[in-house]
Amino acid sequence: MLRSIRSYSTHVDLKTTLQNAIPAKRELYQYVKKNLANKEIGQLTAGGTIGGMRGYKSLLWEASVVDPNEGIRFHGYTIQECQKFLPKAKDEINDPKSEFLPESMFWFLLTGNKPSQDQINEFSNELALKAGLPDYLNKILDSLPSSLHPMTQLSIAISALNNDSKFAKAYASGIPKNDYWEYTFEDSINLIAKLPAIVGKIYSNTYHNGEKLGELNLNKDWSYNLSSLLGLTSNDSLNLNKLNQDQSKDVVNLVRLYCALHGDHEGGNVSAHTTHLVGSALSDPFLSYSAGVQGLAGPLHGLAAQEVVRFIVEMNSNLQNDISNSTKIEEYLWGLLNSKRVIPGYGHGVLRKPDPRFEAMLQFGLKRSNEFANDELFHLVKNLSEIAPGVLKKHGKTKNPYPNVDSSSGVLFYHYGIKELLFFTVIFGASRSIGPLSQLIWDRVLGLPIERPKSVDLKTLAQ
Ligand SMILES: *[C@@H]1O[C@H](CO)[C@@H](O)[C@H](O)[C@H]1NC(C)=O
Ligand SMILES: *[C@@H]1O[C@H](CO)[C@@H](O)[C@H](O)[C@H]1NC(C)=O
Ligand SMILES: *[C@@H]1O[C@H](CO)[C@@H](O)[C@H](O)[C@H]1NC(C)=O
Ligand SMILES: *[C@@H]1O[C@H](CO)[C@@H](O)[C@H](O)[C@H]1NC(C)=O
Repeated sequence: MLRSIRSYSTHVDLKTTLQNAIPAKRELYQYVKKNLANKEIGQLTAGGTIGGMRGYKSLLWEASVVDPNEGIRFHGYTIQECQKFLPKAKDEINDPKSEFLPESMFWFLLTGNKPSQDQINEFSNELALKAGLPDYLNKILDSLPSSLHPMTQLSIAISALNNDSKFAKAYASGIPKNDYWEYTFEDSINLIAKLPAIVGKIYSNTYHNGEKLGELNLNKDWSYNLSSLLGLTSNDSLNLNKLNQDQSKDVVNLVRLYCALHGDHEGGNVSAHTTHLVGSALSDPFLSYSAGVQGLAGPLHGLAAQEVVRFIVEMNSNLQNDISNSTKIEEYLWGLLNSKRVIPGYGHGVLRKPDPRFEAMLQFGLKRSNEFANDELFHLVKNLSEIAPGVLKKHGKTKNPYPNVDSSSGVLFYHYGIKELLFFTVIFGASRSIGPLSQLIWDRVLGLPIERPKSVDLKTLAQ
């Protein structure tokens, strides 16, 4: 059952809602700073310091916590709870197959309050109004060779937008520290608003000779625009992937669900941590998030999604489409493990149980059983999730033998025709913005200092 959640009156906008939440949080911050500064919350070890700081509680992060057994909770709420209480698109409120919006998730992450339907309608509209790209950015993107990795293009685009940073300008003109957050807030909203157009342009330039792929509709939500600009909606002039109306409705909901669920996963992983670290130097949100995106481009982080799809496609062809043969699947997996390779999409840095985001993405396909009936890759992902954990447990070298979120999302996009593997991480990069940017705003609200941990050399550790 849902606990009751605070929501302010319908006509209060996001900024005011945030403003209302600030005094209590600032008070709590001052309380900890004054009274609990010496409280111990864990121990540093030589092993941790040479081992990626695993488990060090050294970052402040407000919106979400990953429990090793339960997975992610957003302000204490599970994914299923969020799916129930966060608003959907205004024209699909009563559609049971329609998913809640990433806009709603951003509002919730940032303020800890449940937005009303009207608030989200207005917020979607605000994002749409701010979605257009400045000329100089279009020129920069058009001048990049289409052979550049799309993640490189994404980080170039995001950092170039810093020329329009309100925070950078206000800082240069000298504003009080207490006001930093307002400009950080404005920049963050502008950046989130522009991501669909940036991502759409990179897709079109890289794979479709810069052709305009989608129709723009001011009246629709952020994910609709993103899907449309990827050529995924049936009304689009090109209708690239020949989707019918039901399919194009589905794919918009896939983008909504994917983006809402991938936004935040507490503070420690590379993209989130990097955004926070670079932001601590008072670099503006564009520079900070573009640094985060560069981390996301690493194979141990966001690039994993592309690896999983490659792996599933290869495995399917190796099994000669015989995906119901569990003995053959097991043999294939042992072959990988015995040659010291890993099973892409399995294991996780923090989680010790199945990733609830994997389950939510899998459910998306299972709810559409007709649409996915003949999709072998999807069924292979599902079968694999039942077989691989047993194999990995027997093998005994993995702390978490369960599928992570990467192992389901890619094949869903693939199903609807996004088959350019390098591009998956770019969609991830759009979705990821809402978590690290909402924390970045809080970093400025609280006036967190520049990060500056102490380093130590091996000789000292060896003493
Ligand atoms: C979609 O993006 C374009 C800019 O490329 C913008 O003009 C339009 O308002 C956006 N619509 C929505 C719903 O975001
Ligand atoms: C960058 O910002 C400066 C200062 O606001 C402005 O004068 C300049 O035209 C901008 N550059 C581009 C390429 O828009
Ligand atoms: C694998 O998938 C097929 C087709 O969907 C199904 O009939 C079969 O029962 C599945 N096998 C396992 C082990 O899950
Ligand atoms: C890092 O963030 C991504 C995006 O939310 C997530 O998929 C991944 O599981 C996270 N990793 C860790 C170790 O938290």
